[in-house]
Amino acid sequence: MEKVVLAFSGGLDTSVCVKLLQEKYNMEVITACVDVGQPKDEIERPAQVAKEIGVKKHYTIDAKHEFAEEFIFRAIKANAMYEGYPLSTSLARPLIAMKIVEIAEKEGADAIAHGCTGKGNDQFRFESTIRSGSLCSIIAPVRDLSLTRTEEMDYAKENSIPLPSDKLYSIDENVWGRSIEGDILEDPMVETPEEAFEWTVSTENAPHKAQYLAITFNDGVPVAIDGKKMGALEIIIECNRIAGLHGIGRIDIIENRIIGLKSRENYETPGAILIITAHKALEQLTLTREELKFVETISQTYSEIVYNGLWHEPLREDLDCIIDNMQKRVTGVVKLKLHKGSIRTLGRESPFSLYSEEAVSFEDKEMDQREIAGMVKNYGLQAACYQRVCKKD
Ligand code: ARG
Repeated sequence: MEKVVLAFSGGLDTSVCVKLLQEKYNMEVITACVDVGQPKDEIERPAQVAKEIGVKKHYTIDAKHEFAEEFIFRAIKANAMYEGYPLSTSLARPLIAMKIVEIAEKEGADAIAHGCTGKGNDQFRFESTIRSGSLCSIIAPVRDLSLTRTEEMDYAKENSIPLPSDKLYSIDENVWGRSIEGDILEDPMVETPEEAFEWTVSTENAPHKAQYLAITFNDGVPVAIDGKKMGALEIIIECNRIAGLHGIGRIDIIENRIIGLKSRENYETPGAILIITAHKALEQLTLTREELKFVETISQTYSEIVYNGLWHEPLREDLDCIIDNMQKRVTGVVKLKLHKGSIRTLGRESPFSLYSEEAVSFEDKEMDQREIAGMVKNYGLQAACYQRVCKKD
């Protein structure tokens, strides 16, 4: 019997996959759940379900710290956002796939399987990572059989596959954010019901009193809140908690998927919005005009690479090198005010600040204003020429 390692979440798609791989593909199934900060029951349930449906070996891999340090922190330094989405799901996929490859190697498996459908982005992200790290064949049972959600439900019922009962929407959650799709949300004109949200309160229910806080950055990544030092994972969790409390980080967009489909996506990413807002504020203080312009370009390319599942593309590593070098000066403190869904930057300071209060001051006598006259005189030379030439016509 051939051996297959399945990336297993215990949800509908992957649960159906277990049975399909056993019955239709006639394989020995090993399941693995990679913990990137899902809720506790989403880590415990797969182990239980795996047992119930006759899986002999199940792995639970804790990759939360690695996710925070090696993936989320890179995304923060790059201000990574795709069409307004902080890439929570996208960033986790290569890490999950890498862990599955490790298990497949250890188990001497013949194949790796995933539960992605043929319409989504994750099939690209999983498969490109797997192919970068392994020669195993890849099986995608749901896509292979072109199953619809209803067909999957029927198959699950027929085969007494246990399903999470209370899930109305398709939800993907990790420490960087929560994605909510499906059901009535597929109608882009339907307002997302309050019950879909778990990490954030509505602006109406957010506290009337504003919260002031200071985030300290070191080399482009957050290291302390209000002076209290924290590790990568801890600070992300804390930022989610604080910003969520003030109704920050709800995102409702029409997103362009890799295959070109437009999809309606809801996200809750309070920590990501808070941290990236503060990070950008510190960059304004410490990077030059030229760097800031380039940072926008890098951010756009970096985000597309991540979204498109090309984590192992060398350009991503090249960009990380430039980013790391620039971020050495993105060190300092940002003061913020959170109130009813809004974040305001109140202040920023850094030992690498390029801002000079003396130079910009109206009271300054150091810079002789007359010296600038020459610089101003020929400014807009081409525009002036153009206007003259056109008037002559
Ligand atoms: N559209 C996002 C992405 O491709 C999130 C998908 C999340 N999936 C879900 N079942 N909610 O990264």
